[in-house]
Amino acid sequence: MSNWENMDQWYAVLPPSRPTSKELSRIEDFLRNIDKNEPVAVLGSTPEFRELLFRLGFKQRFIFDKSPDFYKRMGQLIPHSVQSDEQFIKGDWSSILKDYPHFFRVVLSDLTMGNIPYEDRDDLYYTISNAVKKGGVFIDKVLAFDFRVPTLDELFDKYERLPINLRTINDFSSEVLFCSELVKKKNIIDSTEFYKCIREGNYSEKIKFFADAAHMITPEGFVWSYGIEWSELEDDYKKYYVTQKIFVEDDANSPYYLRTKQFFNFK
Ligand SMILES: C[S@@+](CC[C@H](N)C(=O)[O-])C[C@H]1O[C@@H](n2cnc3c(N)ncnc32)[C@H](O)[C@@H]1O
Repeated sequence: MSNWENMDQWYAVLPPSRPTSKELSRIEDFLRNIDKNEPVAVLGSTPEFRELLFRLGFKQRFIFDKSPDFYKRMGQLIPHSVQSDEQFIKGDWSSILKDYPHFFRVVLSDLTMGNIPYEDRDDLYYTISNAVKKGGVFIDKVLAFDFRVPTLDELFDKYERLPINLRTINDFSSEVLFCSELVKKKNIIDSTEFYKCIREGNYSEKIKFFADAAHMITPEGFVWSYGIEWSELEDDYKKYYVTQKIFVEDDANSPYYLRTKQFFNFK
């Protein structure tokens, strides 16, 4: 089980491992027309969502996270006034959201799916949809495996020729740890195992340097459930909503180009 307390350099993590400006502006355009007295929720402690909801004037802002430490740490990445009147709810999403039936007008989430083991997903997605009131929306970004996963050789050939900087280190983490053939081995991302495989593999000093540097973005000791084809997951994901608007990542320079989808799931 991943211990998010160990994710201690979130300030070095860049979009699209965090919400991109384009994703945030889509959400802002949608939220502008929502009554600011309506209760809204964030899954996880995403600083960008907390700041956006505060800036737009939402009065009832609920932040759901099992890690109070990570919540506090993310609070250091946004102005203090943002969290002054937030309601922080500690606990696991699958249990605590059950206390809020038909309550939220909007629930926001960014890359939370991988944190949930495949066998627990249906219960969580039912619980989330049940916490959304009629006419409400669940806005979520998902890393969806409906793309050809790149081989390590393809990726390492690319990174061998790239400069080493915070952008390329973030992209190395996203592509090699979250999108490569490594993921398809067990449909699980095990950061410790993946780093060991690169460290002990017959790869160049530069590639091993990239892997070492990527520890500041994705530390060891983390496990995510990713890799199963989206076609096998999407029906269960969308069955609790009447309509969906889907935006596929279309920035060709993004490490998640055509690999992530932003969903507006309408209840
Ligand atoms: C949202 S996820 C992924 C990171 C995400 N992109 C973000 O911007 O926060 C990470 C956050 O979710 C929290 N978290 C992960 N699994 C959880 C669960 N089952 N219940 C409640 N919080 C969880 C972690 O403590 C962490 O704060």
